[in-house]
Amino acid sequence: MAEISPRFWSIFTEVYEALPRQGPGNRASAAAALERCSGLPAAPLVVDIGCGSGGQTLYLASLTAGRIVAFDLHAPGVARLQSAVTAAGLGRRVHPLIASMAGPGLRAESFDLVWSEGALYQIGLDRALRVCREMLRPGGWLVFTDAVWRTDTPLPEVKAMFDDDYPAMGRVPDVLAAVERAGFILAGHFTLPDEAWWEDFYTPMEQRIEALRPQYAGDAEALAILDQLAGEPEMHRRHGSQYAYEFVIARRPAAD
Ligand SMILES: C[S@@+](CC[C@H](N)C(=O)[O-])C[C@H]1O[C@@H](n2cnc3c(N)ncnc32)[C@H](O)[C@@H]1O
Repeated sequence: MAEISPRFWSIFTEVYEALPRQGPGNRASAAAALERCSGLPAAPLVVDIGCGSGGQTLYLASLTAGRIVAFDLHAPGVARLQSAVTAAGLGRRVHPLIASMAGPGLRAESFDLVWSEGALYQIGLDRALRVCREMLRPGGWLVFTDAVWRTDTPLPEVKAMFDDDYPAMGRVPDVLAAVERAGFILAGHFTLPDEAWWEDFYTPMEQRIEALRPQYAGDAEALAILDQLAGEPEMHRRHGSQYAYEFVIARRPAAD
């Protein structure tokens, strides 16, 4: 891993916590994935794992009539979601929590829909899928996104970017095999369109980075960190065809 300046994480947080979300995804893609979950109750009980500051949680609240438990390990993101929930008058339906997917402490077999965007890989996909399965009632739906390679020969700089965060990243068939290995029935999958990287994520990220530059004028170290962060959307602009985010929709068998 490249050497990281001690100030990297504080400036990273200053950028990321101002964004509508902390990974790729948008409302239209969430709606398209949700549409494939046939037979959900009119007001499903949903859990959103690794919700970040809740960009997709708020979409789910508008796309379903159900109750949503949204949790993340990172307390400031959960606090931001809580403020948004309160401001939107969603307090009866959306319940943000600080918890780890490694042991969320939620009631087993209780959820109609387990949702997670760009987070399951954090504890390893196989392990996370077992946790998801335990939370789902039989017949319940699992919807998640995961980063995947679109080439076996990525450019070294692209590979280096993902090796830092997700060294085990595979291709779509690897993710689908993990889903089946965990005992789910695959119902569908699709690749996030390019606009889902920009709308709520990279465009606000680039704007946030530019807005912070004057604040750090004369601070060469901070400006270098902002340049480093700006490298990610730039990498996507140049080499986004080498990797993708895949939405996967699967079902726990009704009887098992
Ligand atoms: C790439 S972000 C995605 C956030 C959000 N789902 C989105 O798409 O905007 C990954 C999230 O996983 C969270 N995370 C990492 N490890 C976790 C764990 N063990 N349990 C719960 N959340 C975790 C991080 O704090 C972060 O918010």
